[in-house]
Amino acid sequence: MKPSGTYKQLDPLEGHGPQPTCFPRKCSRGTLLSAILLTLFGLAFLLLCHLRLSSAPRHGAGGSCGDTCRVVLVESIPEGMTFGHGSVMNPSTFSTWMNLLGTATRSLDIASFYWTMTNEDTRTHEPSATQGEQILEQLLQLPRRGVAVRVAVSHPSAKSPLSDLRALEQSGAVVRAVDMPRLTGGVLHTKFWLVDGTHLYIGSANMDWRSLTQVKELGAAVYNCSCLAEDLGKIFEAYWALGVPGASIPVPWPANYSTTFNVETPLELKLNDTDAAVYFSSSPPALCAAGRTQDLGALLNVIDTAEDFVDIAVMSYLPTTEFSRPQRCTQTHARPSSPASAPPNRFLSPRFWPAIDNRLRKAVFERRVKVRLLAGCWRHSQVSMFPFLKSLAAVADNRTHYSVEVRLFLVPASTAQAQIPYARVNHNKYMVTDKAAYIGTSNWSGDYFTQTAGSALVVNQTGSGISAGTVREQLQAVFERDWNSQYSTDIVDAERWESVCGSR
Ligand SMILES: *[C@@H]1O[C@H](CO)[C@@H](O)[C@H](O)[C@H]1NC(C)=O
Ligand SMILES: *[C@@H]1O[C@H](CO)[C@@H](O)[C@H](O)[C@H]1NC(C)=O
Ligand SMILES: *[C@@H]1O[C@H](CO)[C@@H](O)[C@H](O)[C@H]1NC(C)=O
Ligand SMILES: *[C@@H]1O[C@H](CO)[C@@H](O)[C@H](O)[C@H]1NC(C)=O
Ligand SMILES: *[C@@H]1O[C@H](CO)[C@@H](O)[C@H](O)[C@H]1NC(C)=O
Ligand SMILES: *[C@@H]1O[C@H](CO)[C@@H](O)[C@H](O)[C@H]1NC(C)=O
Repeated sequence: MKPSGTYKQLDPLEGHGPQPTCFPRKCSRGTLLSAILLTLFGLAFLLLCHLRLSSAPRHGAGGSCGDTCRVVLVESIPEGMTFGHGSVMNPSTFSTWMNLLGTATRSLDIASFYWTMTNEDTRTHEPSATQGEQILEQLLQLPRRGVAVRVAVSHPSAKSPLSDLRALEQSGAVVRAVDMPRLTGGVLHTKFWLVDGTHLYIGSANMDWRSLTQVKELGAAVYNCSCLAEDLGKIFEAYWALGVPGASIPVPWPANYSTTFNVETPLELKLNDTDAAVYFSSSPPALCAAGRTQDLGALLNVIDTAEDFVDIAVMSYLPTTEFSRPQRCTQTHARPSSPASAPPNRFLSPRFWPAIDNRLRKAVFERRVKVRLLAGCWRHSQVSMFPFLKSLAAVADNRTHYSVEVRLFLVPASTAQAQIPYARVNHNKYMVTDKAAYIGTSNWSGDYFTQTAGSALVVNQTGSGISAGTVREQLQAVFERDWNSQYSTDIVDAERWESVCGSR
């Protein structure tokens, strides 16, 4: 376990504080006196430190929050998919975004990867693009209503569609392209919304019509929670500052970007009237101001602190760097057909990167934690993902009772749906353990934590919810639904997935 923030603050006292400076019976008067003086000095110092800490601002280290925060899990379930009767249902990403747009009175900040909210990009007349088009339409109204709209987007490549971004600018929104390829060799892959400095959405959904109707997504909306919105706002401000042409990454980040909410001193608050400890993590490390927990550190901590189980649902899981530059997911125009055709840069070939895989194996082996991993699979999956997944699953054994299970989630597609490029996939990026919920925006491979901008909401919540269950319990229910559904296939049943997954 990590030391608490308070404990860390007192670290400099080590060696000066009240310590057994001598063995009592051997002590002379002189050393006894100096021991007492030293002790008194140490105590006074401790007291001073304590006073300084308790006079820190209300949201200071180990802070609390007076807001009546509500959290809601939100999902996109691709059209045509059905789960059994009475199975878990969450509000849709579409209805949540419409709601947030309707609520906005002052400001809307969006951190995004790319924008394709209309199906202009596919040159089809796909009726399921309507939801995306509606969202864009509502968004374009906001500036007229006096809402300040800011959009941070990853630097568009030469072939990226720009029509949505142009329309946003014409509406009065301010758009800044963050040149992550130049700054860190990654992309801006984060997906979150901030409304009026009070409400927020964070999750896997891109600003893409497919993310509302054709791709399986999971995120969280938090309402009436300025404490959390303010903190996520600092991550947005960092993107915003880097969106100025020619910007460079400040070292260190100015003090106003720093946070006191992190893995060691999370914000303690009530989510739906239930105690929780919460923070946001961020990647890559160069974008983390003082006090911000790095996304990889957050993820590993959630694994390390699990005592009973770790359930993971993630689109792609690779103990390697995936590309020298991560490719776009549901981006039609900009995506080279294979990593080999990725633009050459200073990070040449993929590297072995077992940071996460090691920690999972360690949890299984040392603490007998039960690991279940549900990976997304589609024709564009990296073929190297599958042997690594099999290797992880192979740790399970009836004689040792190590428990690891790996399944693949296949989103079915009708003939018409199969025509939609870069759709019909489980794009989720979350983890739930007996202690915490982690809702992120990154694939689980090296690039996403070392070069690409992403962030995650980490909720530490061990108690039980009042009626509907805590957000951690609800996330667990979502996982169970998907894991046990007709769409999931054990990695050992190769016949069921081999022809579909990574077929091109
Ligand atoms: C947020 O607070 C407002 C005002 O108190 C209330 O009307 C609204 O229902 C709250 N939203 C949620 C999701 O609880
Ligand atoms: C920090 O201060 C600078 C200068 O006033 C401002 O531009 C920036 O947005 C602030 N950052 C945050 C996170 O508030
Ligand atoms: C959750 O909180 C408990 C108690 O404060 C702490 O021991 C544990 O490390 C935390 N876990 C995570 C994943 O942050
Ligand atoms: C995630 O992984 C998939 C499969 O390897 C890849 O195609 C995609 O570009 C990655 N990024 C996103 C957007 O999830
Ligand atoms: C482990 O035990 C289960 C249930 O008894 C059985 O179905 C399975 O085949 C066994 N697996 C191996 C590898 O022996
Ligand atoms: C929190 O409250 C909201 C609004 O009352 C509800 O929709 C949501 O399901 C609740 N979430 C949890 C985790 O109980």
